[in-house]
Formats: sequence, structure tokens, C-alpha cells
Amino acid sequence: MTPEVRRAAEILKRGGLVGFPTETVYGLGADASSKDAVLRLYAAKRRPLDHPVIVHFADSDLAFSWAREVPQAAKKLAAKFWPGPLTLILKRSSKAGDFVTGGQDCVGVRVPSHPVAQELLRAFGGGIAAPSANRFGQVSPTTAAHVREDLGKDVELVLDGGPSEVGIESTIVDLSGREPALLRPGKISAAELEAVLGSPVLVKQIDSPRHSGGLERHYAPKTPARLVPTHELDQEIARLKDKVAVLAFSRPDERVDYWLRMPREPQAYAQKLYAALRELDSARCESILIEAPPEAPAWAGVRDRLERATG
Ligand code: TXA
Ligand code: MG
Repeated sequence: MTPEVRRAAEILKRGGLVGFPTETVYGLGADASSKDAVLRLYAAKRRPLDHPVIVHFADSDLAFSWAREVPQAAKKLAAKFWPGPLTLILKRSSKAGDFVTGGQDCVGVRVPSHPVAQELLRAFGGGIAAPSANRFGQVSPTTAAHVREDLGKDVELVLDGGPSEVGIESTIVDLSGREPALLRPGKISAAELEAVLGSPVLVKQIDSPRHSGGLERHYAPKTPARLVPTHELDQEIARLKDKVAVLAFSRPDERVDYWLRMPREPQAYAQKLYAALRELDSARCESILIEAPPEAPAWAGVRDRLERATG
């Protein structure tokens, strides 16, 4: 274990906050068993208290000990996708306090695969409550530098594990109801979940505060951003008088002040997305135009984040 990770585990044990890398985005961690620590986490994020946080564990046995019922579907998905970018919503056991579940009877659990996250979870031993390490409603961080920019002194230590590989938050599956439901699309697609479960997965349009990823204008840059279909991009650019920044698949257009070209492959796109939105935001343009991604299921995670960013 590195001295940094040991220090991070000690900070968590005395109720402090630590930024740490996961394969999806960086998390802001607190001891999930400590009400004081989790309240400090909500304060640092400026997040409303009725929004539940995901609890992270080193392995599935530990994760499942926070649930009072572990359905067969949970075991199957855990065996296939953990450690990895998947969060399961399960009926909580007495270990999951109201302060992590937002007062609900369910808890969100996840076993991340990032080696530094794994090392930290093993050193700490228990559950680490960790939302994305940004202020509430802003673009999630995918590097240690993003976390420091966003949270500054509100976080004692940020472990640096390099840029996040997946780039968008974990796929969330609710297994607390009668049928599995996809609450947040991510790298693991509905089709992949269905292949493992052998049955259809409901795709829920979330609009209650139950799931903060479901709020409008989540993951949003500060500059007003708009999604534009490919065939209208040229026309939109021609019409603009203000300084504009563009996120698109094609090569830069001379009329545009700031242009970022994105990969045509969804996973490579996801990996770059949040850093790109931050970069466009810092270009201080009047507005951001984003070329709409394809409709194909492989783009569901990216599309979801872009729709919210432009909400
Ligand atoms: O990839 C990820 O999941 C990242 C990394 C750090 O692990 N974490 C993350 O956490 O995205 P956060 O808090 O930004 O988003 C977690 C989502 C929230 O929308 C939250 O409301 C939902 O999961 N969630 C957590 N517990 C829940 C529960 N008991 N019932 C319903 N939704 C829940
Ligand atoms: Mg978040």
C-alpha cells in the first residue's frame, strides 16, 4: 500500500473527506457508516440531503452485507460486472443509515475496479459513500486536477489515479422492485444487462429527486449549451454572431472561435466528454453548440449526459 493511500484511509476513519479515482469518474469519499462524515460530504458538494449517495466496497460480499435481500439478479450482475462500472439499488440492511439512502428503504452499492479505488477500499475496510467529486449539478471530474479545481480546500486529500477510463458515471440498475429497471445508462448497456439476466430491463425516465442524475440540468457546463443535429450544424454556425464553441465529429470550421473534435466511437467519446465540456466552458464563449450523437443504443450513456448538459 502506498503512503498516500494509507493517509487517505486514515482521513476517512476520522470522518474526513478524500477525493479518489474510479474507472467512471472521480469520487468524493466519506465513511458511509458515519453520519457526521456523510453530512460533511453533502455540505462540501452543496447537495440536497434527500439525494442518496452510492456506497462503494472492495468486494461483492461486503456490498451485499448492506442489503437485507440479495435477489438472484443481483448475484448474476455482480458476478459478471463487478468490479466495474455498475451500481445496484437493493433493499437496505440496518448498516445503511437514512443519511446515505436519503431516507429511502434502498441503498445503492457498487464495487469499482480502479486499482487505486480498490487499494483504498481494502485499506479502509468498510463502505465509502462517494458521489462524483464536483459541486452539485456541475460537470463530473475525470482527473485529480478537476477535483481540486471544483472542491479546493473542502477536500483534504485527492488521490491521483490518472484520467478516468470510462468517463461517465456508472450504469445504475434498480433491483428493489418487481422487475429490474435501468435508472441511469452508462458504459454497461441495457442489452448487456438483459443478456446476463435473460429477461428485459425496464428503462425508467426518472423525474423525481429520488435519483439526482435524473434532475434537469445535471452535469451542466456554465455556458449555455445546445444540441444540434448534424444536418443543421452548418446552418446554425452561419447564423451565429456571438463567439461560439463547438463540440463536433467533423473537422474545425474557420467561422468558429473554439472547436473540439470528438471521436466517432461511443466509449472513446465518453472518456473525453467531461474534460471537453470543461474546456469549452473555460473558452468563455457566448454559447456552446454540440453536434447530436447517433441514436444507436451504444450511445445511450453519452446521449443522456448531453441531454442533461443542454437541458
Ligand atoms: O460512477 C459513479 O457511480 C460515480 C463514482 C464516484 O462511483 N458516483 C456517482 O455518484 O455518480 P452520484 O452520487 O453523483 O450519483 C449517484 C446516483 C444519484 O443520482 C443517486 O441519487 C443515485 O445514484 N442513488 C444512490 N443511492 C440510491 C438509492 N438508494 N435509490 C435510488 N437512487 C440512488
Ligand atoms: Mg454526480
